[in-house]
Amino acid sequence: MKQGKGSPPRVYIETFGCQMNDYDSARMLRLLAADGYEAAAQPNEADVIIINTCSVRDKAEQKALSRIGRLKKLRKHNPDLKYVLAGCLAQRRGRALLHQMPYLHLVLGTAAVDRLQQHLQALDRGTRTIVDIEMEDEGAGVCRDFGDIVPGKGSPVAAFTTVMKGCDNYCAYCIVPYVRGHERSRAPAEILREVGLLVANGVREITLLGQNVNSYGQTLEPPLDFTELLQRVHEIDGLRRIRFTTSHPKDLSDRLIAAFAELPKLAGHIHLPVQSGSNRVLARMGRGYTIEQYLQQVQQLRQTRPEIAITSDILVGFPGESDEDFQQTLDLIESVRYSNTFSFRYSVRPGTMAAGFDDDVPEKEKINRLMILQERQRDITFELHRALIGRTVDVLVEREQTDADKPRWSGKSGCYREVHFAGDGIHIGDVVTVKVVEAFASSLRGTATG
Ligand code: SAH
Ligand code: SF4
Ligand code: F3S
Repeated sequence: MKQGKGSPPRVYIETFGCQMNDYDSARMLRLLAADGYEAAAQPNEADVIIINTCSVRDKAEQKALSRIGRLKKLRKHNPDLKYVLAGCLAQRRGRALLHQMPYLHLVLGTAAVDRLQQHLQALDRGTRTIVDIEMEDEGAGVCRDFGDIVPGKGSPVAAFTTVMKGCDNYCAYCIVPYVRGHERSRAPAEILREVGLLVANGVREITLLGQNVNSYGQTLEPPLDFTELLQRVHEIDGLRRIRFTTSHPKDLSDRLIAAFAELPKLAGHIHLPVQSGSNRVLARMGRGYTIEQYLQQVQQLRQTRPEIAITSDILVGFPGESDEDFQQTLDLIESVRYSNTFSFRYSVRPGTMAAGFDDDVPEKEKINRLMILQERQRDITFELHRALIGRTVDVLVEREQTDADKPRWSGKSGCYREVHFAGDGIHIGDVVTVKVVEAFASSLRGTATG
């Protein structure tokens, strides 16, 4: 705990990037709360400002850097203010960031979250700057115990639990294995304890997180298949819905697909990033599957759970992507009819395999391809939404609207769509059957029927 002040110290945290960072930010707040810190709603109310960064694309890095650049002037009003740069960019650039931003106090890598308190204490004692980008030496692919699993407050009814850290896939374009380290699985007992605590605190939906959850548990002693982990989580009383992300197609097993028939709490949605519709591009990316194999999985998933919603990530403008390759990606989204896709322009990441390829698709062409893809996807999403009119979806009630013009309740359907609906006798945390009456581009509107 920070000494010598009347009121408790306050920490302000801003998070960029994926759910891994959301989870880490929640942990940082939790760890600091144990040290007497309170969360500040605004940066100008804080004694410590943490920017938790993402490195996945150059734009993501620039966004975080410009944000912290804008916050540096707050030092004028509070000379004791401490600046922490955390996350994947911190891990990637380390000490170089101190040269670029001499006002930083702490550069905290992705494996150093546990050491945040100790570093802040050292800064309070007068240490000027600290860089901690040490990777955990966790031996043979097993996560060290997190040690603090009292859940934080996100949505009161839906929460995340990390089941594995790092990634061993080294897709040619991707920085994640370099900034998150080797794949390590978390012990099942610890995961179950965390989910149990979350549920005891009112959580009804859990999302199991990892860069490639399908390969969970192979390095545990004894090994445990991801489907078995799902089965164990499924047994937790009071838990209504389970999601998981991300699934890598190369590791999606028949057993996991079968779980969609066997485990009723498993939500009717899978995020199965394809990245490209061209086998030539997939091979150069090192993804380890063909489009034919991918389509076979899609078919099997739909046979197992006919209403399953499938979402994907797509990368356009990878080195060597021709017009024809891109056309194959368009053909793929047409045939799969994803409920949604997250698509990105390829961005060279220093140190990755693809950084050695010629980044030969002109930026203008990347922008053009992305626009065409996103436009088509918007139409498909809307068409699928309209096809749901008159049908029912299951919704976990997450919020009550205060806006009188809108239906009173909001939440996500099992198929991961935002639903607003009217109904009586409903409580936050209920799972409600909603009849869809109107469809929009990014949400549905309906009435509760039970
Ligand atoms: N583990 C997940 C994805 C993590 S990164 C998976 O395997 O799918 C999230 C998404 O960012 C990726 O799916 C990819 O589409 C995109 N991405 C990763 N590296 C990128 C890069 N260098 N340029 C543009 N997009 C990238
Ligand atoms: Fe990156 Fe590939 Fe690992 Fe996903 S599976 S995090 S895209 S290297
Ligand atoms: Fe970004 Fe790191 Fe996640 S690079 S996407 S925040 S793992």
